[in-house]
Amino acid sequence: MTALAIPGLDHAPTTHERLLSWVHEVAELTSPDEVVWCDGTQEEWDRLTGRLVDAGTFVPLPKRPNSFWCASDPDDVARVEERTFICSRDPADAGATNNWLDPAEMKSVMTDLYRGSMRGRTMYVIPFCMGPLAADKPMFGVEITDSEYVVVSMHIMTRVGRRVIERMGSDADFVPCLHSVGAPLAEGADDVPWPCNETKYITHFPEEKTIWSFGSGYGGNALLGKKCYSLRIASALAREEGWLAEHMLILKLTSPADRVHYVAAAFPSACGKTNLAMLEPTIPGWRVETLGDDIAWMRFGKDGRLYAVNPENGFFGVAPGTNWKTNPNAMRTLEQGNSIFTNVARTADGDVWWEGMEGSPENLTSWKKQAWTPADGAAGEPAAHPNSRYCTPMNQCPVLAPEWDDPQGVPISAILFGGRRATTVPLVAQARDWQHGVFLGATLSSEKTAAATGAVGQVRRDPMAMLPFIGYNAGDYFQHWVDLGKQADAAALPSIFYVNWFRRGEDGRFLWPGFGENSRVLKWIVERLDGDAAAAETAVGLVPAADALDLSGLDVDQADVEAALAIDADEWRAELPLIEEWFDTIGPALPSTMRDELAALRQRLG
Ligand code: GDP
Ligand code: PGA
Ligand code: MN
Repeated sequence: MTALAIPGLDHAPTTHERLLSWVHEVAELTSPDEVVWCDGTQEEWDRLTGRLVDAGTFVPLPKRPNSFWCASDPDDVARVEERTFICSRDPADAGATNNWLDPAEMKSVMTDLYRGSMRGRTMYVIPFCMGPLAADKPMFGVEITDSEYVVVSMHIMTRVGRRVIERMGSDADFVPCLHSVGAPLAEGADDVPWPCNETKYITHFPEEKTIWSFGSGYGGNALLGKKCYSLRIASALAREEGWLAEHMLILKLTSPADRVHYVAAAFPSACGKTNLAMLEPTIPGWRVETLGDDIAWMRFGKDGRLYAVNPENGFFGVAPGTNWKTNPNAMRTLEQGNSIFTNVARTADGDVWWEGMEGSPENLTSWKKQAWTPADGAAGEPAAHPNSRYCTPMNQCPVLAPEWDDPQGVPISAILFGGRRATTVPLVAQARDWQHGVFLGATLSSEKTAAATGAVGQVRRDPMAMLPFIGYNAGDYFQHWVDLGKQADAAALPSIFYVNWFRRGEDGRFLWPGFGENSRVLKWIVERLDGDAAAAETAVGLVPAADALDLSGLDVDQADVEAALAIDADEWRAELPLIEEWFDTIGPALPSTMRDELAALRQRLG
């Protein structure tokens, strides 16, 4: 190794050759002023949050212990799907739903961008582990970043630090994750609170299991353990190794008779995963505990059942809409402090506020750092960005299931696919069998949300809520799902359901109250598994009649519930050409079984 005279570079707490040579290579390319090997300690957190406060990036929140307010650059507020690339050697392996560039070409473009990109900054090396460190084969990553915001967020979202580097030893495999905000500082120049670059690339090399991210500091673009590793890279790995890396929450549902079921659910970003994961049931005697709110890694166990592990260590949740009624457990988690709030509003007395939260504070500082009053809200200027986020440790969640970090995972009884559809899709439907369930997942549709840049509200297909996260060809991904079902013992497979909390009446109101009331749907789902709940065969799947749902004590119009459950054959017939078009987009890799399922749906609709 060449002797580079960068302070800190040689303070490596490891003898891991591959890691050391990669860190040297990146330091040489990016030219930071200093290198820091992160240890994940409280001292490190205090030092870096202090540095972020001094830089004007963080504002401490006196009302919340060890918590900070932060506003991003107004142009760096969400995932950038059009700047996200899967650089497989063969473009066919990325498929029609991913952006692709030849890996060598991409490396050349990005190497030019990274050259000197950390000048004037500190380069941090963050060894992290996705999932329990006690796993037989822990899933390591190392993120190199020039952002203190990323380091402290990684402290919350992943398992970081000394215990990780020790467990890695001198030869453990790891995913190299390179991140730079792309804002070098000239000698003596002042920094801005949120450095970033207009040019952004979120790039994945699935064959090399490597991630390169440039230009953005936003969570999903910059905290590379999350969507980049745990979904895009892990899905490619899962395909090779016969498991599933999915955009799913994991919850534990206990009935009044103490029957336990674990449920995994895939909804697109900002469509209710975090809320369902922490749900407080409104029906007496039922209990929900949380295991994960965003990502599930699922492998078959020796008993043939599918076991899920949450690779994360924290919640990166959508703030707007979160309140003591919709998600009291998120509010309790945040109350304990140790959290970062990005792009929410700040109150004059040092607390946070966002649209949908209780109270109507008069004088706020908006996410744009401007004075804000309710009059601004009335004029259409929200105090918090619609994709504003809280970042908070899992272990503060009052309903965390004790087995949440069991390396064996938990056996999944039911998989839910869901989206945000104002029409057509019923509140709940059960798939006839695994392959039909894969079809429901593969044709999942949802209105776009603020979690990604672009037009909000437009309906698009979002297969398994994975459209922006499949690290390979979507057709091959469907085939992988079909194959896993074939290999498995059918009786041990989870049952698949399709849900929609977001159907609307003619006046635009939600037909179903959602949130805690979704426990009524969960109850029907597990009672289906236990053979106690009635369902009617429809063209779309098995659907409860309104009286098959437990609606006791629910103050809602029966007609609304019926409308939420209704299957309108005309609406579904109108869906057929859209599915057809979607399947055409996938191209030759689309499994023929998916066309068979579409033909069967068409026939059932008459
Ligand atoms: P995630 O990004 O998938 O984890 O989604 P969240 O759980 O953070 O929810 C995103 C947004 O949808 C928030 O504003 C929630 O308040 C809202 N939301 C979540 N669940 C429901 C529901 O059951 N009904 C309605 N109407 N809105 C919901
Ligand atoms: P989520 O994930 O919206 O699914 O919670 C965060 C993100 O997409 O950046
Ligand atoms: Mn979430």
